[in-house]
Amino acid sequence: MAESYFLGVDVGTSGVKAILVSPEGDVASAAVTPLTLSTPRPGWAEQEPAAWWAAAVESMRAVRSARPHAAIAAIGISGQMHSSVFLDRTGDVIRPALLWCDGRTTAECAEITEKVGGEERLRELACNPALEGFTLPKVLWLRRHEPQAYARLTTVLLPKDYIRYRLTGVLATDPSDASATLMYDTAQLRWSEEILRAVDVPMSIVPDVGESAQVLGQVTAAAALVVGIPAGTPVVGGGADNACGAAGVGALSEGEVVSSWGTSGTVLAPLTSPRVDPALRAHTFCHVAPNLWYMMGVVLSAGGAFSWYREQLARELAGDATAAQQLDAEAASVPPGADGVTFLPYLQGERTPLRDAEARGAFLGLSLAHTRAHLTRAVLEGITFALNDSLLILRALGISPASLLLTGGGAKSPFLRTLQAEIFGLPVTTVSREEGPAYGAALLAAVGAGAFPDIATAARATLQRAPLEHPKPGAHALYAEPYATYRSSVKAARPDRL
Ligand code: XUL
Repeated sequence: MAESYFLGVDVGTSGVKAILVSPEGDVASAAVTPLTLSTPRPGWAEQEPAAWWAAAVESMRAVRSARPHAAIAAIGISGQMHSSVFLDRTGDVIRPALLWCDGRTTAECAEITEKVGGEERLRELACNPALEGFTLPKVLWLRRHEPQAYARLTTVLLPKDYIRYRLTGVLATDPSDASATLMYDTAQLRWSEEILRAVDVPMSIVPDVGESAQVLGQVTAAAALVVGIPAGTPVVGGGADNACGAAGVGALSEGEVVSSWGTSGTVLAPLTSPRVDPALRAHTFCHVAPNLWYMMGVVLSAGGAFSWYREQLARELAGDATAAQQLDAEAASVPPGADGVTFLPYLQGERTPLRDAEARGAFLGLSLAHTRAHLTRAVLEGITFALNDSLLILRALGISPASLLLTGGGAKSPFLRTLQAEIFGLPVTTVSREEGPAYGAALLAAVGAGAFPDIATAARATLQRAPLEHPKPGAHALYAEPYATYRSSVKAARPDRL
């Protein structure tokens, strides 16, 4: 009999990744299909759900054709959090999705806060404030600005749930994505009737919630023809990309902290109870394991800022597979602090710690003596300083990791591993199978297929940690002044308020 494999799919912002994972946890094949991002106005960000589906199909077909004889026991999907897929009653997409990094809904955030009875009440109900990127403000934006589209709205889905819908015909979500919509009671684990009633949005627009490792549907005959995976293949609940990313590096217990470097950057700490940042700079959401939550600071432009930099100011390198390595080498040729150049990565606004959708990026401290290498180093340092802002908030709330788990671009690059260890002032480590959220999604599929009793066991059985990489003695201190300059430069991110 053919061995059973598990398929993990991640709907990212820059691409859709698929991986086929063997029963032992080995990655048998992997494929990424790139996506483009539409920014119709500064601060706005949209993508077509149909483009996610097309990219998911291409990636799934690619991993399948690399291993045509592998039987797929189950599929798990992770994806961008918060982004809104608006469906009408026939299941058609009404308009492009407003993304997690879209900042157009400031007025709707104020409306929600006011109608729910203030930020304190919203915090009690959702464990979070109203922030532009979250899903509910997007629903209210549609109602206010595109009433004809709103009149057709029957269901709002998250990106990974849209892919499951296309695969199985089932409308559903899981707690990790539900808790990031601002429509879910994150502590009580149910849709919040009180929030939805306060803003006069019908409960019927949100789908049923199943567990992340639970089988929620099966591939239909029609989808089977398109993706080349047998009809009847089970699809589990899956989860939010940050939660699946944490599961994919085995961060499933209190005491772990993960620094993730994707289009966004996040610093995430699992919690055994839904503790909340009193100042609401960090978010509190459900993890992909039952009875587990996490607190997370979010940098809206991490890899996104670096890609922008590369495309705009190092174009001759863009597209070249070794471009990132060349830029790392360039950055390494300049001392810590980039000889006084500071970069603020707020190209798309900022969540943690600023909570400001209108913040913008900046280079400061430039002189004729500076070269592109200084700018490159400043960009990478600025992104890491922004991650450090989140880490310091978690630390101030009593989360004190002995080391940090790295995932994403910041885990793959030796320069960025060292930079993070030095700026955070902590040893860092990575896992043997650094595949990001797709790996966590594949492990959830493995649990759903019965290969493991739970996700923590699955992670323990499949992942190994690399030896800790310690910061060089004295290196952390070299960043004290540049980090202080970065912090005091934040006002430059809001020139209109200077
Ligand atoms: C988290 C967030 C981003 C997206 C990226 O709150 O908005 O990290 O999940 O896909």
